[in-house]
Amino acid sequence: MGYTYKELGLVTTKEMFEKANKNGYAVPAFNFNNMEMMQAIVGACAEMGSPVILQCSPGALKYIGKEVVPLLGKAAVDIARAKGSDIPIALHLDHGEDLEIVKTCIDAGFSSVMIDGSHYDFGTNIKVTKEVVEYAHSREVVVEGELGILAGIEDNVKAEKHTYTDPKEVEEFVRETNVDSLAIAIGTSHGAHKFKPGDDPKLRLDILEEVEKKVPGFPIVLHGSSAVPAKYIETIKEYGGQIKDAIGIPNSELLKASKSAVAKINVDTDGRLAFTASVRKVFGTNPKEFDPRKFLGAARDEMKSYYKTKIVDIFGSEGAYKKADK
Ligand code: G3H
Ligand code: 13P
Ligand code: ZN
Repeated sequence: MGYTYKELGLVTTKEMFEKANKNGYAVPAFNFNNMEMMQAIVGACAEMGSPVILQCSPGALKYIGKEVVPLLGKAAVDIARAKGSDIPIALHLDHGEDLEIVKTCIDAGFSSVMIDGSHYDFGTNIKVTKEVVEYAHSREVVVEGELGILAGIEDNVKAEKHTYTDPKEVEEFVRETNVDSLAIAIGTSHGAHKFKPGDDPKLRLDILEEVEKKVPGFPIVLHGSSAVPAKYIETIKEYGGQIKDAIGIPNSELLKASKSAVAKINVDTDGRLAFTASVRKVFGTNPKEFDPRKFLGAARDEMKSYYKTKIVDIFGSEGAYKKADK
């Protein structure tokens, strides 16, 4: 038993991406693992007037449950509308591994899915992606494919090194698969340990430019784009956490990307760091606290306020739609 995304008030990313590319900004795609994270994301985006893609990884789907995730998507729409905001909201499967999980999500009420065939050879990636596109399009759901491999860790995949996207493969991949957007690898990576302090993190914006020339106007996606704010690393350590010093992708690099054909930028780690830092701080400053509303509420507030700054600093999507009343 599931829903169609339309019944839930959700939309696909099609119009969001067209508007983003026409106006030189990118749509935030924020991952969530629980109700408070969803509330932080939709609260931030509604108050800033930014479109939003709520992303759920296979691990998050397993954790929250496929019966609950679509209803959190519907709740996000209801929250935005109750605040007087008309922002469009998509519910997206992040890093879908195969047709089976794609079908589960589409049949549950997702409006967008990613099929991550980047670890296959080019021919197999095309074949697997094409099958997903056929299923999704028959239900008016959009699909993100991927070419190139990002370094870093996800639940199911760990890659030591980047394999940058080869711009020569892009046109054929898009034509043969009929995907609606394409994730590329230009030097971003998943997780909290992207670069070491002292590194000068640079994206291969030259590859992005080449890709744009091959498929003009086509929506491009960047994964692994968290900034890894030093303030959260410090707070986590201050209150007993163990985390390596690390730096993420600088705002300046991402801002350049969001002004280009990049229509969607994925951020997960930053939300997790904001959330964890806040929870640790509550326990560190008040060891007697045991009311979940106190530590989860503080985490939700911090994540929301940090994402509001991010919408301005890297996405440029502020005010694309009506800003909500606070
Ligand atoms: O790109 C991957 C996301 O950060 C999801 O991470 O698999 O731990 O939920 P996860
Ligand atoms: P970060 O780990 O940089 O937040 O990337 C998240 C991501 O790409 C989700 O698909
Ligand atoms: Zn990713």
